[in-house]
Amino acid sequence: MSDKMLTFAQRLKEENRTTHDSVDNLVMSVNPFATPENYVKFLKLQSVFHKIVDPVYRDEALNRAIPDLAQMARYEAVVQDLADLNDTPYVFDGELPQPQGNRAIGWLYCAEGSNLGAAFLFKDVQKLAFDEHHGASHLAPHPDGRGKHWRAFVERLNLLSLSEEAQVEAVEGAKDAFAFYKVVLRRIFGLPEGAEAEAKPLVDYGI
Ligand code: HEM
Repeated sequence: MSDKMLTFAQRLKEENRTTHDSVDNLVMSVNPFATPENYVKFLKLQSVFHKIVDPVYRDEALNRAIPDLAQMARYEAVVQDLADLNDTPYVFDGELPQPQGNRAIGWLYCAEGSNLGAAFLFKDVQKLAFDEHHGASHLAPHPDGRGKHWRAFVERLNLLSLSEEAQVEAVEGAKDAFAFYKVVLRRIFGLPEGAEAEAKPLVDYGI
């Protein structure tokens, strides 16, 4: 399918597929659910990422276009999960990105989409006895269900009717978001640059 036939959301997915899989591999390589200590590190990583996107979720114009967007923000839930484990958000040494404009829409896509894969993470974390009530509230599914909620969100993204130029910026924003996630992960888990394994064969998300 040529790029011209893809919806905006399909384009975000296609153009970030390989990057996504490399992030997935990198996360799994650090065994975030093997011990409570590793899980705390994962929560700290999530705290940096969700802090960056929190203002995007609360953006007034985006909230007019995407109903209930502000309620989808998960930074406070991550902070609560950390508090449940007697810990606090990670303080990133350096300037945090402040996504703006169309690039911010790409960051938003990255953050909201991460709740789809969270289905697997949510299962794994329950082996450590954390759940939506204690320690893992930010990984819990949306009340409408992950799939249904995601399809509604994707529809809203497409209804933004972004121009070609704006879509390119948004895709760049999503790439920035995935790239920064890796930077923070390496820092928190103490990995060298380029530590992830080769990306796995492409996953068909089947949504
Ligand atoms: C071990 C970690 C991860 C695993 C196992 C994982 C797995 C998955 C899976 C299986 C899906 C598709 C879900 C479905 O078809 O219902 C998905 C979607 C997605 N994930 Fe992840 N993921 C991980 C980490 C992340 C992270 C850290 C981010 C963002 C920083 C992220 C962003 C996304 C996005 C944006 C989508 C939506 C793709 C689309 O349909 O456009 N994922 N993930």
